[in-house]
Amino acid sequence: ESSTEIDISAITPGQAIKAVFRKQPVFIRNLTPAEISAAEKVDVSSLRDPQTLEERTKEGKTNWLITMGVCTHLGCVPLGAGEGEVKGEFGGYFCPCHGSSYDTAARIRKGPAPKNLEVPTYEFSSDTVVKIG
Ligand code: FES
Repeated sequence: ESSTEIDISAITPGQAIKAVFRKQPVFIRNLTPAEISAAEKVDVSSLRDPQTLEERTKEGKTNWLITMGVCTHLGCVPLGAGEGEVKGEFGGYFCPCHGSSYDTAARIRKGPAPKNLEVPTYEFSSDTVVKIG
């Protein structure tokens, strides 16, 4: 079983990078305080796939949003990690294939995707390195 170690030290708040894990894209995003509070303000019971930001991140590190970069509709790679401002109307990621919009916790908010972007198994090896898998 292969895991992937990724140096996150250069990812500033508001930035997201795309890495590769088991041949699939993974998004690593450093949320700004405004993005965190936007995610926390959402009424979770109104969501298609109800999860809090806290459930999707590690305790004390809610600014680090780590998800697969694979749309849960038909598997396209959403935009918003490395494409600047292309984040869709909910400020997270936008899948151009059929128009799914994900929010700042990468939860599905609009469009055909049934589920939030998947959070892989991961742990922090240190403050600046994440081990995925
Ligand atoms: Fe993303 Fe269809 S694959 S919306």
